[in-house]
Amino acid sequence: MENKRWVCFLMCAILSWNSLAPQAEGRAFFVFGDSLVDNGNNNYLATTARADSYPYGIDSPSHRASGRFSNGLNIPDIISEKIGSEPTLPYLSPELNGEKLLVGANFASAGIGILNDTGVQFINIIRIGRQLQLFEQYQQRVSALIGEEQTGRLVNEALVLITLGGNDFVNNYYLVPFSARSRQFALPDYVVYLISEYRKILVRLYELGARRVLVTGTGPIGCVPAELALHSRNGECYAELQRAADMFNPQLVQLLSQLNSQIASPVFISANAFAMHLDFITDPQAYGFVTSKVACCGQGPYNGIGLCTPASNLCPNRDIFAFWDPFHPSERANRLIVDKIMTGSTQYMNPMNLSTILALDSRT
Ligand SMILES: *[C@@H]1O[C@H](CO)[C@@H](O)[C@H](O)[C@H]1NC(C)=O
Ligand SMILES: *[C@@H]1O[C@H](CO)[C@@H](O)[C@H](O)[C@H]1NC(C)=O
Repeated sequence: MENKRWVCFLMCAILSWNSLAPQAEGRAFFVFGDSLVDNGNNNYLATTARADSYPYGIDSPSHRASGRFSNGLNIPDIISEKIGSEPTLPYLSPELNGEKLLVGANFASAGIGILNDTGVQFINIIRIGRQLQLFEQYQQRVSALIGEEQTGRLVNEALVLITLGGNDFVNNYYLVPFSARSRQFALPDYVVYLISEYRKILVRLYELGARRVLVTGTGPIGCVPAELALHSRNGECYAELQRAADMFNPQLVQLLSQLNSQIASPVFISANAFAMHLDFITDPQAYGFVTSKVACCGQGPYNGIGLCTPASNLCPNRDIFAFWDPFHPSERANRLIVDKIMTGSTQYMNPMNLSTILALDSRT
């Protein structure tokens, strides 16, 4: 009798441990940032920045719009695939409960930037400070489930992705001529200010327990169909936005390497989104795209005007377009980007690529 109870105690302990298996197997993944990485948080908000209707998601398994700014998967989804995890649920999703919390969470919100005044026109979005607060709240919820110590370990061992910056130019400094920020700052000073604010965000993320953080710079924001539609006669990229990205990205790389030397550990990994995009923007045919200038879904020149809606032009084959809508890459372009994140040389991933990180962390 006593024996049986003892066996049950062991077995039951093992069974309940197994029921928390997502934590033991896959690595948790946390995502912060803007529309490039939002998995659907904005569906739950009163905002105009949303991707919850047709034809968004047309190539996803359900063929339904989920709030991702893609025809199918986005960058975090494909990273989840690579680390052998389920896609992260949006933090605001009512489905994110119980064991599902152990997979991680996506806190990103389309329209946000480094600065609080970025994306104000979208009204109700989750600014980065709030995303970090929600990450704290998440940790309290997980602590109630598996205890504080285990939660700390889950967060320390997790992979983190943060994508910010593009909107601070497109949806702030350059949103309208003579914007408040452009009257306040010359471009080089604005970039220095952005980097100083980004520093605080990354330090906070570290304080909250993040120990492997992929940080993407901005892509070639002057080359997206939306900017070509406004500024380009012959398909050339908008020089002013390219100049902004050219200033911002190297200073971000420098910031990350400063933080890493202060911490004395390669916590922050820089992902050169500019170079990753530029490859297929410069030579789309080499990557199997018919064009990198015209969006699949949109209207007007380059299909770059306004939003992608049920009334827009829609290309029949999304795999041969680098851009899905006027601002966001197609799933196939996202796959090319994640390939570079996984196995790119130090020109793309600094100080190391994700495959190296995964190999390194599985040993410790
Ligand atoms: C942004 O807003 C948050 C919350 O209101 C505040 O704590 C933070 O200091 C603000 N950041 C800046 C740079 O003003
Ligand atoms: C990943 O990065 C490492 C270190 O920089 C490099 O040696 C390796 O070649 C990269 N992987 C691939 C497939 O290029």
